[in-house]
Amino acid sequence: MARHTVCSESELPVGEMRTVRAGDTKIIVYHLEDGFYATQASCTHIFAPLGKGKIVETCQVQCPFHRARFDIRTGEVVEWANFPPGVQLLNAVRGEKALRTFPVTLAGGEVHVEVD
Ligand code: FES
Repeated sequence: MARHTVCSESELPVGEMRTVRAGDTKIIVYHLEDGFYATQASCTHIFAPLGKGKIVETCQVQCPFHRARFDIRTGEVVEWANFPPGVQLLNAVRGEKALRTFPVTLAGGEVHVEVD
């Protein structure tokens, strides 16, 4: 695991997320009410950029393509791809899969993420 500085705490207000690079890996950093979190940047369904999605229900990220929702804190699927009608056909071969999450630490006003 290597620790990467990805942004400063003040750059990312509560309720926002940002796609950043941690070394060679693209990830998303989120600032929720209870702290900072990080997940992989692409949806596990068919790899849409989650950074173009949005934070819903204060702690979930919703994919911009087919509206899968993931718990930002754990990466678990809250709701699988469900839009547009018919996407279920695709789901037969693209089953539910959690997002990878990465440990975040704060030090000296900076946000650090551990990525292997
Ligand atoms: S690519 Fe994210 S829900 Fe389909």
